Amino acid sequence: MRRDPLGYLAAELDTLRQQGLYRHLRIVDGEQKATATVDHRQVVNLSSNNYLGLTTHPRLRERAIEATRRLGVGSGSVRTIAGTMAIHVELERRLAAFKKTEAVVVFQSGFAANAGTVSAVLTKDDVVVSDELNHASIIDGCRLSRATIKIFPHKDVDRARTVLAALPAGQRKLLITDGVFSMDGDLGALPELVALAEEFGCIMMVDDAHASGVFGRNGRGTIDHFEMHGRVDIQVGTLSKAFGALGGYVAGSRALIDFLYHRARPFLFSTSHPPAVAAACIAALDVLEQEPHLIDRLWENARFFKSGLEGLGFNTGLSQSPITPVIVGDGALAMRLSDRLFAEGVFAQGIAFPTVAHDRARVRTIVTAGHTRGELQFALDVFSKVGRELGII
Ligand SMILES: Cc1ncc(COP(=O)(O)O)c(C=O)c1O
Repeated sequence: MRRDPLGYLAAELDTLRQQGLYRHLRIVDGEQKATATVDHRQVVNLSSNNYLGLTTHPRLRERAIEATRRLGVGSGSVRTIAGTMAIHVELERRLAAFKKTEAVVVFQSGFAANAGTVSAVLTKDDVVVSDELNHASIIDGCRLSRATIKIFPHKDVDRARTVLAALPAGQRKLLITDGVFSMDGDLGALPELVALAEEFGCIMMVDDAHASGVFGRNGRGTIDHFEMHGRVDIQVGTLSKAFGALGGYVAGSRALIDFLYHRARPFLFSTSHPPAVAAACIAALDVLEQEPHLIDRLWENARFFKSGLEGLGFNTGLSQSPITPVIVGDGALAMRLSDRLFAEGVFAQGIAFPTVAHDRARVRTIVTAGHTRGELQFALDVFSKVGRELGII
């Protein structure tokens, strides 16, 4: 009889079960909204990145349907062969104007944008200097590039400076940070790092996945928020979170984007978006420009919910964005908290190692513009009840 060569995977899964860290995929039945039916239960949804409620916005929906009727369901090819449709170019033109850069290239996801870009612009002779909490897609891009990776402690600009100062003059180097950190909701040390990049002649790159549609004028991101236009060489954004659809993009100089057209592997070797996705993203840009009250509502909701959690006595870390972690430390406790919240009608995902450090496990909450005050108050009441029950507050 054939021995199962993947047998060790089942053993690893058993270990996760014993540690209380095994997760099954929760199923959203119906639309992805502020309240949703998840695993057949009606819940207040604090787990999505649908910051502005655009996943179900009528304008995006209509434009996606119209594009499907007019252009079909697929692009049929990678961009460099035959998969660049006029609607892809229109989206890139609109995004470049929005971001105030010379050009933009759109990737299939934010992950592909980060990993594809870092690995394309660096070689094994280069150095990348990266915040320890940068997103997995940046870490993978760094590894793929084979450049030397130097990690500095989270937002520790002095340590980043020490690393840079020790490098030989003339060394090509990339300094990289998230604009908003996805697990803690705090902002990257952007002004300080940009100044450092200028002092040491680094390429400066910012991943604005969680800032797109959330920070800056009309959701232009942290570079706009900190008024750093023209000082960041590579800006990554996502179309999968506040934009409500799917994709990632890189904004920068014409030369950078032309280079990525030739060297970024997800661009060269993976099929481009269906026309419906590109159309929905163009509609999302229209909404950001014409319905800025959605961003105002997101921030009102974020302030209300964050101060409610803090008032109850939870440890919400150093969040500065609509992402608010409820940090409990132990991984199994975070999963128990998440499960009890769910049973009481609140969906907030537990997050443990390896996504966060062993002793920093948490439940992560994200409010959206689509939540009503009543829904957020309900969620706070449930947090209060379950937090006391588990001895967290
Ligand atoms: C900081 C950060 N960068 C990049 C990504 C990847 O974006 P996408 O979901 O569009 O692949 C994410 C999403 O999880 C993220 O949190």
